[in-house]
Parts: sequence; C-alpha cells; structure tokens
Amino acid sequence: MKFRIACTATLAGALLAGSWAAAQFPGMGAPKQYPWSDKSLSPDRRADLVIHELTLDEKIQLLHGLGWQALMAPPESGAATRAISTLGFIPGFPRLGIPDLQMTDCVVGVSGAGAKGRYATALPSAEAMAAAWDPALSYEIGTMIGHELRAMGFNMSLGSGINMIREPRDGRTFEYKGEDPLLAGTLAGQELKAEKALHILTDVKHYAVNDQEAGRIVVNAVIGKRAMRESDLLAFQIALKNSGAGAVMCSYNRINGTYACENPYTLTDVLKKDFDFKGFVVSDWGGTQSTVKAALAGLDIEMPGNDSFGEPLKKAVASGEVPMERLNDMVHRILRTEFDSGIVDDPPQPESPDVMRGFEVAQKTEERGAVLLKNERNALPLNAASIHSIAVIGGHADVGVLSGGGSSQVSPAGGSAVPPPPELLMNPLAAIFLVSTYHRSAPLKGIEAKAPQAAVKYDPGVDVASAAALAKSSQVAIVFATQHESENMDLKSLSLPDNQDALIEAVAAANPHTIVVLETGGSVLMPWIDKVAAVVEAWYPGIRGSEALANLLFGDANPSGRLPLTFPTSEGDLPHPVHADPPTPDASHPVPQLAGAPGPIGMAMGIAPFFDAQYDEGLKVGYKWYDAEKKSVLFPFGFGLSYTTFAYSGLTVTPGDTTAVTFTVKNTGKRGGIDTAQVYASLPDAAGEPPQRLVGWAKVELAPGESKPVTVQVTRGLLSVFDEASDSWKLVPGSYTLHAGGSSRDLPLQQSVTF
Ligand code: BGC
Repeated sequence: MKFRIACTATLAGALLAGSWAAAQFPGMGAPKQYPWSDKSLSPDRRADLVIHELTLDEKIQLLHGLGWQALMAPPESGAATRAISTLGFIPGFPRLGIPDLQMTDCVVGVSGAGAKGRYATALPSAEAMAAAWDPALSYEIGTMIGHELRAMGFNMSLGSGINMIREPRDGRTFEYKGEDPLLAGTLAGQELKAEKALHILTDVKHYAVNDQEAGRIVVNAVIGKRAMRESDLLAFQIALKNSGAGAVMCSYNRINGTYACENPYTLTDVLKKDFDFKGFVVSDWGGTQSTVKAALAGLDIEMPGNDSFGEPLKKAVASGEVPMERLNDMVHRILRTEFDSGIVDDPPQPESPDVMRGFEVAQKTEERGAVLLKNERNALPLNAASIHSIAVIGGHADVGVLSGGGSSQVSPAGGSAVPPPPELLMNPLAAIFLVSTYHRSAPLKGIEAKAPQAAVKYDPGVDVASAAALAKSSQVAIVFATQHESENMDLKSLSLPDNQDALIEAVAAANPHTIVVLETGGSVLMPWIDKVAAVVEAWYPGIRGSEALANLLFGDANPSGRLPLTFPTSEGDLPHPVHADPPTPDASHPVPQLAGAPGPIGMAMGIAPFFDAQYDEGLKVGYKWYDAEKKSVLFPFGFGLSYTTFAYSGLTVTPGDTTAVTFTVKNTGKRGGIDTAQVYASLPDAAGEPPQRLVGWAKVELAPGESKPVTVQVTRGLLSVFDEASDSWKLVPGSYTLHAGGSSRDLPLQQSVTF
C-alpha cells in the first residue's frame, strides 16, 4: 500500500491555492493551442515555429538564467512570483505557451527544497548509488527524483554528476559515480533516462575534467586528448547516449588553457559534433568568463554569477561579433530540448511528495550500495539472540547519519541532527560548505531495535579512553567513523579526521569484536585494518541509513555493494601524492582579473592565482593507474564481500561486432545473495593501454547453491582506443583477453580472442 503524506497542512494549502498554483504551474487549466502545439511535429520543427515569434530581447532572455536575481526582476515580468527557487530560473513566454525553466540540483535527491518548506528524500550519496553497480536501481532512483521534482513544480534537474575520481581527495567524490567511465556513464544514463521518461529536462555535469574542487575556478587541467576522450569525456558520451539528457553543464576550470565554458574543443568539436548532442550547454553557476568567446565556442546558457550573456550578448549580436545564426542556434537548442523532454506538453502538476516511496528507494540504495570490506571469522552478521551488550561509538550515531555539503545538499527534515557550531552559521558560505549536516536517521536506534534484549550503550568517541572502556565491557563494539566532504573544498588527506584512527585503534585493542562502519565520501586510509574484525563502507547513508545499516549488520540484508573506486594503501601511491593546490597569492602569483566579472559567487569562492594541475596519469584513472604501476592496494575497484560466497566457471567468448562473454556464477555459501560479476578486457600491447579496463558486468541474484549463466555483451567501442592522429576511435588489431570474476583483482576466468 502506498501512503502519501503532505509535509505540512500549510504547504498542502498553499499548493492547492488556485492562483498561487496557477502562477507556479502554468500548465494548469486547458492549454491554449498554437501551431507548435502539434505533437506530431518534430521537436526541431516546433522550435523553429516558436523562434519566428520571438523578439531579440526574448531570445537573449532565454540565454541568461537567473538565480536570486529573479526576485529583483521588474514586477511586470512576473519572474519574482513564478520562480519557485532562487537557484535557477529562466522565464518562459506565457504568451506563446512556453514554460519557465525551473531548475534545481538533484544529485542525491531534490536539493534546496527546504528553503520553501518542502520535503524531499535525502538519498545516500552518489558514490553509494554507484557502489550498487545496478542500472535498474539507478532507474528507480531517477524515477523517484523525477516524481519529487514534478511534485514541487521543477521541470529541469541539475544532475547527475559524473566527474571521474581522478583525485580521490576531491571534496565532491560523494557526488560522483566512481572512477570508471563505463560504470559512471551507464548508471547516470539510467537515472536521467528515468527522469526524462517523467518529462523532466535533465542535465549531466560538470563538463569537463573538473576533477578537483580546490581552486576550481582558477585551476587549469592539463591533459592529453586521448586521455580525456578515454576517461572523463567517455563517461559523458556514455551517459548522454543512454539517457537522451537535454543539457550539459560546463565546469569552472580551464582545460589545457581554455575555460570549460568557452572551450571550442570540448563543447563544439567533441560534444556537439562528435557526440551529436542536440541539447544545450549551460554554464555552472558563475562559470561564464566571456561573451563572444563563450558563445562562439558553444555555450548556450549562462547561469547566474556573472553577466556575460545579457546586455553584453545583445551588443555582440548587434555588432556581428556573435552572428545571428549562432544566437538562433542557441535558442533553437533550448526550445527543441524543451519540446523533446516533454516539459511543454506535460508540465508538472502540484502534488504532495510520496514520502514512503522515497524511503523505500533510499533504504534500498543504501542496502545495495554499502560495501562489506572485511569480515574476519564471520564477525558479521550479528546474531541478536546471542548478544547481550553492544557498544556504539562515535559518528553522532545516536542522532543521525552524515551527508555531503554544498549545492547537492538535500535539506534535512527537521534540520541537521547535529546543530552546526554557531560561528559557522554567521558566514553564509561556511553554512553551505563547511557545516556537517546529519540526517535524522540514528544508527543507534536501528541497532537497538534489532537487539531488544541487549544492553546497547552509546559513547560519542571524543574521549578515547572512555570509548575504549565501554568497548571493553561490551560483547561487540561498533565504531561509526565519519569524513565530511563538500563542494568547493578538497580533503586535506585521505586519513580519517579528528583522531578517529586513534579511537578505532583503542577500541579494537579493547575488544576483538570491533566493527567499523565508515560514513565517508570516498576512499580513506585504514592504518588499523588488521586490528578490527569487520569494516562496512556505508558512504553517506541517506534518510533511511539507520534501518538499512541495521539490516546489513544483523543480516536481514546481505551486503552486495562493490567499490566504484579504489581504496589505496597510502597517499604515496596516488598518481599525485601531493595535491595540486592553488598557490598563495604573491608578486609572482597575482590574483587574476577574470575576463567576465566573476560576480558574487565567483568572488565569494575566493579567487586565487591561476595554476596548473598536471593530470599526466592521463587515462589511467583509478584502478588503471594502480594496475599499470603494479601497486598493491588496500581494496581494489570492484571489490566487496557478501555473507555468502560466489564462484565463477565455464567462460566462453564469442567475438563479433558485439562480443558475447558467457560464464556461470554459483552461490557457494549458505545464504541467498547478489553478485556483481565483472568483465575486464586487456588490449593488444600495440594499443598502449593500461593492463585492463572494465567492459561490462552482470548483477545476479542467487539462492544458496544456485548457479546461473550470465552473458555480458561487449561492443567494439568498448574495446577501442582513441586515435589522436585520425581523431577517431580504432580497434587495434591483435589479441584481446577477456577476464571475468568478482573484482578488478579477482578474475579467475580468462580467454583470448583475436580481432
Ligand atoms: C555547482 C553545480 C550546481 C550549481 C547550482 C554550483 O556551485 O558546482 O553543481 O548545479 O552550483 O546549485
């Protein structure tokens, strides 16, 4: 049975109040018919019909998005009342039946909803979604997000984020989907496809090579063409192909000397020509640095933060610096995408959010995405019947679960479970980026509910000796360790902060049955790994973290997550042991005067001197680096344990236009479980590639003792390399080895074929 719960009576009343709703949801009532209302016409044709009706000012209006500026717009424009968020709004043309674009961030649920008193489901982090390796789940996530967007009146989503985890200290690792372009592109593709099916105009970001947050406005990503095409850009190519997403958000950074939002190679040559992308490019907020250069390079919409596409663009069109043809192309791309996505024909209608559906999806995502990293002598699952005392330590596990900071933050229902320090609240940017926000889903409560006869005691973990004493007097100790990540900052290191390593060491020394639950954005170092009995990587667990984690710890859910990124043994093993940070401003490193005024957002982000990040590991992102360098790792890409075990046999590889890789997966343990059977390919030496790349995987659910054949179809594209000389993908002739198994470093089956 489905329950629908209105957030508050006030909200329900407001949503249903006719005049307000009509302003927010212009589609209400019988829609007027126009020549472009004919749904049998192509989106391109419909867009062309509208363009003929638009004045130059109206065209410009479409290309120059508003944030809080909507509130200051002239009253006759109606923008202030129509914008349902001060984040991203582009007024449409009510006289022509063209809707406003109402945008919000959607990486881990609908963000910013709380600003207007609305409720949205806080999902686990995107890294948790990726760890499920489950395209069907990603589709469910997209469906849930799409419904919640529509319920609030949004018709454009700003997600998914698929920047490669090239620099694992990136503060937005939690917003992204791992270190492999096929994994990230496939999952984001399904999520956005589901949103589009609900008539949401979708976006994928941040294009491109925005692989670190430190100095994101001033960093120049230095990277070769082939490296880019086979890593970061490939993820976008796959996501766009699978989703039909309508928009691509260009990023703040420069790529090989040119800003991503005015880069003709990435925006026009690759995206619009090679990927045949028919949608529009929208700048990150404050990410437009010029007028003519950006417009000619392929940027279509400037979002707020600076002012390059309003009056300056109008002047550039008048002077001929930006030809009218290009202006019309920009407008055409937006309008055709509005028709293509369905937002014109099927505008969102006001609704209460389906809270229970959100809970189900959030819990399932955490149960499928949490990764069991270590489980010595079957320390997990816990057997409630035989446990008399449990020490729960640290991580504010008595009140909630951690989430990531920045624009993706889903407003915590009831406010953060851990009140932020007052001094941080005085600074509005700190409030967004620095504050650790906890969703009200306390792991302690979930544990208590599973073990009602046990004495479950909580220690905050601040005083190591007191935590160790509690652990000593308890049968089992569960330490919750946290690592806060946020947009606009990178981690200082991959070590757990705030003395948590010492805490874990001390607790493990006091109690051999110590289980560590990690709430981290991405990988962390574990100097204590040999001393603890079990480790669960829970990522940021979302609004049903308590229930999901309790189910996993007590065996009502069998862990099936697999790492979407490598956990290195030490920072010395990273491609760049020393993080590329912006230099301190001085005479030789002056603070740049950015061409397009950076505006309030850019200013507030603290402009530092320009600097280069030499991404000379190139396409060797993540496991490809560790494999090529023959480095051992703490936990490899694709790794994850289960409460059962799986075995692989009988590989056959049938080469062709699509190569079929077939093998059998058997559940060799005593519990039902889900495996992620993975296939990697080693290319001929002449290809000059890292030792292997992921080319596909299959999710298989198996009862104890059950076997199932799986077939993974590998296209030629997935075996190809990007040839810079001919600017195209090539299959290098020679011998290809296909490997199958349970992780990138556990591949018992292999067979070679020749192309
Ligand atoms: C972020 C984007 C986000 C935008 C709007 C920017 O700071 O980088 O990911 O979509 O803000 O919130």
